[in-house]
Amino acid sequence: MDALPEYAVKNREAWTSFSVGFAEPGRRAWTQPEITWGVWEVPETKARAFEGIDLAGKDVIELGCGTAYFSAWMARAGARPVGIDVTPAQLANARAYQAEFGLEFPLLEGNAEAVPYPDASFDVAISEYGASLWCDPDRWIAEASRLLRPGGWLVFLRNSTIQTLCMPDSGEVSERLVRDWFGLRRLDWEDDGSVEFHVPTGEMIRVLRSNGFEIDALIELQAPPEASETKFFVKAEWAKRWPSEEVWRARKK
Ligand SMILES: C[S@@+](CC[C@H](N)C(=O)[O-])C[C@H]1O[C@@H](n2cnc3c(N)ncnc32)[C@H](O)[C@@H]1O
Repeated sequence: MDALPEYAVKNREAWTSFSVGFAEPGRRAWTQPEITWGVWEVPETKARAFEGIDLAGKDVIELGCGTAYFSAWMARAGARPVGIDVTPAQLANARAYQAEFGLEFPLLEGNAEAVPYPDASFDVAISEYGASLWCDPDRWIAEASRLLRPGGWLVFLRNSTIQTLCMPDSGEVSERLVRDWFGLRRLDWEDDGSVEFHVPTGEMIRVLRSNGFEIDALIELQAPPEASETKFFVKAEWAKRWPSEEVWRARKK
């Protein structure tokens, strides 16, 4: 494996400890029959992120697969997923769920910015808060482009820009902008040592287009009317008024 960038080492350490708390939610997601999106579990039938993409028989790479429930959903839709993750503890949970649910697909330990597969190996690249949150956008999107065949799809979920701008260094997402839009990119969290990345919309468009993608959709997710709790520092009432998460869908030319 190539040497990991310093933020990947920090994130592997952080995820080694987060993995304990994510084991049970990950397992629960493995039991779910339908694809849902994000913390508000917006059903795919509503989000329509894969609309027009027939997953059956497709080679899919999940970049930062974690417990790999998203790959499991893709496998049940007929795809052939491969998951890559930098944290052995997350992959151990994923392997345990593969055995429990009788669904096998390759799981690799490594950096989603440098995947050990040849160019043009996949039809779909997916990231659900994996590389899309924890990797450098210029690096992981270039890697997704390299891995995809012409006409292949990149679909990823991340926090919305407005949520990121309203997220303080600690505590709940506020109704005020607490960060600058300009220069937004790397977020070092002092409490747990993890490092996230978030570039604003215009910059994300630049990164995608400069890596040979055409942007097909930007789906802003809304919390459903029945939601009432706070999830990952975002109140449901906040996420009913503003999108806390967004799905990007882009196609490699
Ligand atoms: C929120 S979880 C992934 C989401 C997955 N859908 C799940 O919930 O299980 C984030 C994952 O990104 C992984 N990750 C962080 N940096 C990475 C990198 N550079 N390469 C691959 N995986 C990475 C972490 O190890 C963690 O498992």
